Amino acid sequence: MQSGLSDRAATRQCCSASSTHTEHPWRRHGATHCLLHRLQLAPSLLKAPVARRAPKAARVQFYTSATLAAERPSETTASDAASPLKASDATGHINWDSLGFGVEHIAPIMFRATYTAEDGWQGGLEPYGPLEMLPSAQVLNYGQSVFEGMKAQRSARGRIVLFRPEENAVRMRAGAARLSMPPPPMELYVEAVTSAVRANAAWVPPRGRGSLYLRPLLLGTGPILGLGPAPAYTLVVYAAAVGCYFKCGQLTPIDLIVEERFHRAAPGGMGGTKAAGNYSPVLMTQLAAKEQGYNDVVYLDAKTDTYLEEVSSCNIFTVTGRTIRTPPLEGTILPGVTRRSLIELARARGYTVEEVPIPVADAMEADEVFTSGTAVVVSAVGSITYQGRRRQYGELGRPSPVTLEMYEALTSLQQELDDDPFGWVVPVCEC
Ligand SMILES: Cc1ncc(COP(=O)(O)O)c(C=O)c1O
Repeated sequence: MQSGLSDRAATRQCCSASSTHTEHPWRRHGATHCLLHRLQLAPSLLKAPVARRAPKAARVQFYTSATLAAERPSETTASDAASPLKASDATGHINWDSLGFGVEHIAPIMFRATYTAEDGWQGGLEPYGPLEMLPSAQVLNYGQSVFEGMKAQRSARGRIVLFRPEENAVRMRAGAARLSMPPPPMELYVEAVTSAVRANAAWVPPRGRGSLYLRPLLLGTGPILGLGPAPAYTLVVYAAAVGCYFKCGQLTPIDLIVEERFHRAAPGGMGGTKAAGNYSPVLMTQLAAKEQGYNDVVYLDAKTDTYLEEVSSCNIFTVTGRTIRTPPLEGTILPGVTRRSLIELARARGYTVEEVPIPVADAMEADEVFTSGTAVVVSAVGSITYQGRRRQYGELGRPSPVTLEMYEALTSLQQELDDDPFGWVVPVCEC
């Protein structure tokens, strides 16, 4: 970064530096693969929740990937990045049997594209590395940031697959709209994710021993001082080889405590988006819960303090007999892809599934409770503590039967051990 350059001057310079870009390098990968075809066949998925362009005020100044690339000598330029990069297979240092959920095994290639109203989206694959931005970047000041979480895994059919990636694309687009960001086109999102998987294929753990967790980010990276949307945006997809989310092991039941002081989201807020800003506030309660020996907290509704909402990073279900319940989507909880899939899977298996408000008192009397999410998959809840009372579910240390059934049904489908009548599993490559 040049010193002494005002944001405005930097912006002008960046703008002119980018004006030679007439095509969108991310298109040059030319990947029209099955997922894209699927999306084209499903026009409802392509419907933009809002206009694709940034709001008018955002078209004044630009800070582009071209300048960023020019300022990082050790890395590829934006146009270099369009050439197919491939990570070396140097994964010998990874012990696939001891993978946790962290950044220890970050994959070496990431996808990055930037957006300005003038140039649209430009970008491609490049080595995983720092994102440079000015202190005046919108995201650092006002928090324009949404993200996603997805998994690529090796399936029993010897290929690397994704699970319902179009759902994540739709959710990121909706979140972008909520935060006044330009929703990335479906095709771009799909290409970003699938090219990152293909380039990092060696980082996808052997079947059944973990997955390649994908983290798409959409950030308002352009500079701004007064409150407003960013003049430029960055879409990044980076990845890491991961194992199970909760430390103790995938099927070990977790202990939850009901949060009685703080709420995660309020009606009319943005609890239903995967905005980064929804997550920092839960750290305080989560850390306090962990100090007391719990794995996480369950939030109650902000209006009445009566009904379950969700856990810090996953949705929640109760089981009573053959009835499975989960809180409805009314804007305060995240519409989880796993949640939605489990609802459909459970119905197909003959369960009655209700999306209804669940009083915490009822949850304390349920037969079973489990949580769901891309990272946690299906996680048995061993106990819930509320107002000083602890309810233990099932046998200590063991998942209860319906929870286990749903875990196995979902993971068998995701790993192509079972047929996929829903068409949810999307092959990326046989690599
Ligand atoms: C707050 C919250 N709820 C629920 C989920 C589960 O969503 P999904 O199943 O799409 O991973 C997540 C995970 O991303 C989350 O962060």
